[in-house]
Amino acid sequence: MADKKTILITGGAGFLGSHLCDRFIAEGYKVTAMDNLITGDLRNIEHLFRHADFEFYHHDVSKFVHVPGKIDYILHFASPASPIDYLKIPIQTLKVGSLGTHNLLGLARAKKARMLIASTSEVYGDPTVHPQTEEYYGNVNTVGPRGVYDEAKRFQEAITMAYHTYHGLETRIVRIFNTYGPRMRLNDGRVLPAFIGQALRGEDLTVFGDGSQTRSFCYVDDLVEGIHRLLLSDYSGPVNIGNPSEITIGEFAEEIIKLTGTKQKVIYQPLPKDDPKQRQPDITKARKLLNWEPKVGRAEGLRITYEYFKSLPRELLFARDHKDFGSYIK
Ligand SMILES: NC(=O)c1ccc[n+]([C@@H]2O[C@H](COP(=O)([O-])OP(=O)(O)OC[C@H]3O[C@@H](n4cnc5c(N)ncnc54)[C@H](O)[C@@H]3O)[C@@H](O)[C@H]2O)c1
Repeated sequence: MADKKTILITGGAGFLGSHLCDRFIAEGYKVTAMDNLITGDLRNIEHLFRHADFEFYHHDVSKFVHVPGKIDYILHFASPASPIDYLKIPIQTLKVGSLGTHNLLGLARAKKARMLIASTSEVYGDPTVHPQTEEYYGNVNTVGPRGVYDEAKRFQEAITMAYHTYHGLETRIVRIFNTYGPRMRLNDGRVLPAFIGQALRGEDLTVFGDGSQTRSFCYVDDLVEGIHRLLLSDYSGPVNIGNPSEITIGEFAEEIIKLTGTKQKVIYQPLPKDDPKQRQPDITKARKLLNWEPKVGRAEGLRITYEYFKSLPRELLFARDHKDFGSYIK
């Protein structure tokens, strides 16, 4: 029998990383997850520890990375990803996008592995083009509060493309738009867990600004399918993966009120600096190159996600943020 394919997934204990671990175990790969648990949680992957083909390294990828044996693929998903996280740990965010990516590209080169990086719609900043195609260069405030994340990701794309061009490394770049599903952290500041958490605690739902800003939400299984197809494709340019179904944040709050049956109301607070006004992926490329498009509608995805949040222990519901970054801040 041919050797099993091996894959290293950084950020493997996080929201997206853990779903990717599940998918590649199900596909029959040997999966190595690597994570320093700064925003992730071992609970997301504890069900995988019984698999002979799964292993976990507790490691910070911004430091030198070594993994023995062969590696066929690397998925680099390690990075704080929510505004609350990267505003609290801005230096770590810049380091994992730059030093971490450099370390992993070096590893990929040594192992002759193909590397896919998790980029983001944030590379488009507060976009002046709508919807956003991969050809749009973006509108990012480098020194604004989101700059640490956006520029880390833009650098990550640039160095990945340089390794592809100058070293002939096989690379893939996915630009992920807002994705949701089970294993998001309730208090990570992203709008969907924030609304559901407020509804479950019996609090009013907080909308920042007048609620007219738009977002497009992709269910996690659709994203994982898109990433799987992109990894196995032969395309090295950036590809948007997201759900183009756009909704205003005001309408979205109403959907959550209906879903949860909460009696609370929507309250409004000032919009944070540099908050993007519109976000909607143009997925023509993914459709054409990968024959991919999202399949899970918002009603179904939200129902599954709500069931997950309802099943969490009550103390998590009332913890303001179960993450303590104290020991990581240098
Ligand atoms: N969820 C989304 O909607 C979304 C959108 C765009 C891009 N992304 C990207 O996808 C990736 C995963 O995001 P997520 O939503 O799962 O966030 P997450 O916070 O749940 O997962 C990130 C994981 O990376 C780990 N990590 C962070 N820094 C590390 C380091 N230096 N060394 C090792 N591990 C480290 C964290 O502990 C965590 O487990 C990120 O790169 C993010 O930028 C996510």
